[in-house]
Amino acid sequence: MAMKITADQLREKYLRFFESKGHRIISGASLIPENDPTVLFTTAGMHPLVPYLMGKQEHPAGTRLTDVQKCVRTGDIDEVGDSAHLTFFEMLGNWSLNDYFKKEAISWSFEFLTQHLGFSPEQLNVTVFQGEPGIPADEEAVGIWKSLGIPEERIFRLPREDNWWGPAGETGPCGPDTEMFIDTGKDKCGPDCRPGCHCGKYIEIWNDVFMQYNKTAEGKFEPLGRHNVDTGMGVERTICMMNGLPTVYETDVFAPIMAKIDELRASPSGDGRAELDQASLTRSRRVVADHMRTATFILGDQKGGVTPGNIGANYVLRRLIRSAVRHARKLGIEPGFTVKMAETIIDEYKHVYPELDQNRERVTTELLAEETRFGKTLDEGKKEFDKCIAGIQRGNEFRAAKDPSFVPVTQLSGKQAFRLYDTYGYPLEMTQELAKEAGFTVDVAGYEECFKAHQELSRANVGSAKSGLAEHSEETTALHTATHLLHKALKVVLGDHCNQKGSNITAERLRLDFTHGEKMTPEQIKAVEDLVNEQIKADLPVTREMMTLDEARAAGATALFSSKYTDEKLSVYTMGRSTTDFFSKEVCTGPHVEHTGVLGHFKIKKEESSSAGVRRIKAVLEK
Ligand code: ALA
Repeated sequence: MAMKITADQLREKYLRFFESKGHRIISGASLIPENDPTVLFTTAGMHPLVPYLMGKQEHPAGTRLTDVQKCVRTGDIDEVGDSAHLTFFEMLGNWSLNDYFKKEAISWSFEFLTQHLGFSPEQLNVTVFQGEPGIPADEEAVGIWKSLGIPEERIFRLPREDNWWGPAGETGPCGPDTEMFIDTGKDKCGPDCRPGCHCGKYIEIWNDVFMQYNKTAEGKFEPLGRHNVDTGMGVERTICMMNGLPTVYETDVFAPIMAKIDELRASPSGDGRAELDQASLTRSRRVVADHMRTATFILGDQKGGVTPGNIGANYVLRRLIRSAVRHARKLGIEPGFTVKMAETIIDEYKHVYPELDQNRERVTTELLAEETRFGKTLDEGKKEFDKCIAGIQRGNEFRAAKDPSFVPVTQLSGKQAFRLYDTYGYPLEMTQELAKEAGFTVDVAGYEECFKAHQELSRANVGSAKSGLAEHSEETTALHTATHLLHKALKVVLGDHCNQKGSNITAERLRLDFTHGEKMTPEQIKAVEDLVNEQIKADLPVTREMMTLDEARAAGATALFSSKYTDEKLSVYTMGRSTTDFFSKEVCTGPHVEHTGVLGHFKIKKEESSSAGVRRIKAVLEK
């Protein structure tokens, strides 16, 4: 049996162990990636080390490194609430930058797990890459595991889906891996149960990646010409397994967070209202704990700059906070809780991540503002919901009085549910919950029909999307449309790597920050201006469609997202002859002008460096 251990002890043990094997301990990086616009957050310890893994630069600390890295992964967000998925976690890692390779990496993993953490070799199951045309099976890894005493029946050869890691974004270093799983001793869920199965029998705690390949922008895997090792061990999962706990939420890192949630539920004003079944209660507590921890780390990050909003990382943050607010309400927790949760989380983690304490005020101010904004939306929606129910009940009484055989209506119409969503931002799931409490159901099929009809209407109403236009001046709206044209023109002239990093619009000018390594030449600037002006002359209609992120991507829209809120409808703006024959298509909240012809003459005033690898353009529209 593994020893009992806290997260603090595990971090310390890990770093010291690899230090004893010649590694230098380095600081973990920001949660906001420095040079990779294809992802919103740092997702692994290797992420900040990409230039060194690629061999583009020498790392100042040498060729053997180890650290603890804050990571955010939102791909599994829908799974949060089960026993193992988290949107924020800490990753312990050790790296070889073209130094040691498989033998050392695997042997040290085995040594650390069995001799320093006390796992018995019998608990250990491992997976290795089974190979595919052009890339051989990793028999070397199999041989090393066997030499350490892991028998054939606990070595699983699996395909790329399971045993290949990376790149972290769309391009970069990657390779076959070997993953280590602890057998919890539970029964197999079926004959196919093996490491990688999600039934809870096998829990992955560590991954050794052998980074010998580079994925190119064209999707090819080229030999990197270097033999790197990249490993990642999840802190929360490992201490969970070591302490024999059923879920990560019982570990010492979550203890104060869960205790705070229960304290807030039990406070005189906060409890007694929420009557939840056990499963919903468990899920809501976990979602609040997970999402508040992630939101606190994003807002408290050393790099800063991510606040709740409607695009990219800002949007992910908004969804995390709003989802936490919804679940807190279900638990009967009073408003203002986000601040109390953040205080607890900051106090717990500040000795490891001092930036949280340094940014305490920003964290609490932003959380409270977003909680309040969303609270208002929810309150207004609730009032509207109550009105709907009262209306149905009045109707029922009226008709029952006239006709004794009348069967009362107990369903909210699809139209009503859609209005709650469309006008009040009330998610269908919440309407259903409220309806259930009131003894009603919701016509979901009718709701979906309304959704579709609405979508078609917005498609048909070419360019008539005026939502929010009132708050925007004509000048900023025009400059916003010009920004889309510019973004696309940069991609055409300089290459598809030009991704928007930031945008700021005043009544006088637009400002666009985008990823590009070099100063633009006068010829390139002219080519971009000309291309934008061509689109203006062509007087392209601007259309708005509503679709999910996946649909938007499939339709060819630019969307710098990596989140997976599959149900969320987003607006997509197209500038082109039609929605399929277009110059530019982007996920965006708008508003935009109706025809590009109204923009006037586009002129770039300045092209300068903004930060490493990011250029800044200031441009105007001349009448
Ligand atoms: N980068 C590898 C992972 O995240 C270690 O699993």
